[in-house]
Amino acid sequence: MTSKAVRESKTTITELMIPSYANFGGKIHGGILLSLMDKVAYATSSKHAGTYCVTVSVDKVEFLQPVEVGELVSLHASVNYVGRTSLVVGIRVEAQNVKTGKIKHTNSCYFTMVAKGDDDKPALVPELILENNEEVKRFIEAMRMREIKSKVREVMEDAKSEIDVSSAPELLKDERCRVIYS
Ligand SMILES: CC(C)(COP(=O)(O)OP(=O)(O)OC[C@H]1O[C@@H](n2cnc3c(N)ncnc32)[C@H](O)[C@@H]1OP(=O)(O)O)[C@@H](O)C(=O)NCCC(=O)NCCS
Repeated sequence: MTSKAVRESKTTITELMIPSYANFGGKIHGGILLSLMDKVAYATSSKHAGTYCVTVSVDKVEFLQPVEVGELVSLHASVNYVGRTSLVVGIRVEAQNVKTGKIKHTNSCYFTMVAKGDDDKPALVPELILENNEEVKRFIEAMRMREIKSKVREVMEDAKSEIDVSSAPELLKDERCRVIYS
């Protein structure tokens, strides 16, 4: 199977934030930004895989600063990691005020995508050629994150099965909830 360099699938999408994208507070809806992230993740992963990809999981989406109507939002994406059939796309989201030229970094997040073959089954993706220290660092980070996520999934499954509802009064006594069964 062929190998491809990170630079070959790097993608940037820039979109103007128009008034119909705003919420009642006048800021851009989180869902608009999520949709743009999904699009750029799809474009980047499909370019690398050479086939259609689907979104499996999304990590570290945080809306740390509001995005305003009239700003230009750019999403810079690249493949950080490839497994057998999955790819992790890292996305840096920036919003630019066109009048001042000031750019704010609103969020960096990670989309795990899976390549699909014509039979709709997960398909092998090309190896990733890493050409500088930054790309090597991102690959190792994503590799570690994949291991951590897998452990967290196991721990959460165990934690769920161990929940004893009879201990709720003690467990929840300092929480902001009230248990009222009808
Ligand atoms: C993604 C999907 C194909 C995985 O199917 P599956 O039967 O679990 O396939 P596999 O076990 O062979 O896993 C395929 C890859 O997905 C990865 N994967 C599966 N579940 C995952 C999860 N929760 N988080 C991250 N990666 C995951 C596996 O690690 C594997 O990667 P690798 O080949 O690089 O090692 C399947 O869950 C699917 O089609 N989901 C719907 C996706 C979709 O429609 N998205 C659009 C939004 S609705």
